[in-house]
Amino acid sequence: MKGIILAGGTGSRLFPATLAISKQLLPVYDKPMIYYPLATLMAGGIRDILIISSPADLPAFRRLLGDGARLGMRFTYAEQDQPRGLADAFRVGRDFIGDDPVALILGDNMFHGEGLGQTLAAAAGNTDRGAVVFPYRVANPRRYGVIELDGESRALSIEEKPERPKSNWAVTGLYFYDNQVVDLAASLKPSPRGELEITDLNNLYIAAGRLLAVPLGRGYAWMDAGTEDALLQAGQYVAAVEARQGLKIACIEEVAWRMGFIDIDRLAELGRSLAASAYGQYLLTLAGEGR
Ligand code: DAU
Repeated sequence: MKGIILAGGTGSRLFPATLAISKQLLPVYDKPMIYYPLATLMAGGIRDILIISSPADLPAFRRLLGDGARLGMRFTYAEQDQPRGLADAFRVGRDFIGDDPVALILGDNMFHGEGLGQTLAAAAGNTDRGAVVFPYRVANPRRYGVIELDGESRALSIEEKPERPKSNWAVTGLYFYDNQVVDLAASLKPSPRGELEITDLNNLYIAAGRLLAVPLGRGYAWMDAGTEDALLQAGQYVAAVEARQGLKIACIEEVAWRMGFIDIDRLAELGRSLAASAYGQYLLTLAGEGR
């Protein structure tokens, strides 16, 4: 299973905060935003990840994350020269995907909840049946792709940012696909707003009876960071949970260690390299070397 993090776009809704830096590199409390979707893919057992961003921003992601070897991962990078839409990730990522199934996560989507890793690993095992999406109940579905489900969680339709939503279930920015996605994405035409829509792609899977919806219940948190308020709320959520538990959310070094991608000596080494920060001290404490 391959993974793609889509971290491009202009971040224009957050201007001027994103004039000189990618939105997905802004901090959400104590770590860069992209750590959250990265940790999500890692918890699902995905170790081979393509990071897509704009030509201007890609070097900064490379500087932050490198080739992934220090985390027992493999990171590669690709440019999206124009924000052509979410489904464009499969055109940009075509060579990277090769003959494999693939998970796509949006670089500004944050997921948190007990058992998420197992849920995603199960979804990864289900891609022979087509596509898997993860609906989440929201108060204001108009901002999202909205999915209509029948009584047995079977998907009937998805509408992108509908005026009159048929349900309160938003399609979250995490999608698992079989390898057919590469050809299906290549067959899409731009929508009226000029984008290759992930919703059009998902509707192709629904029409073929090959889309599985796995609703994330109320025990999960799902947030995106598209606006200044959403960004602040996400940071406050992370700060509150981390302070209460003494455990970090989306600490990629910790996830790598707990998933068995790296050993405890490497964890300690990573902690030492960040020791001046509370984040680095956290890693050292996990590794039994805390002050
Ligand atoms: O967050 C979940 C929602 O994401 C879904 O419910 C919607 O169905 C889906 O269309 C998408 O809606 P958004 O309005 O949030 O998409 P947006 O255009 O803001 O893009 C999401 C992220 O992807 C954003 O952080 C920038 C990045 N992006 C976007 C486009 C269009 C790219 O990297 N490249 C692109 O071409």
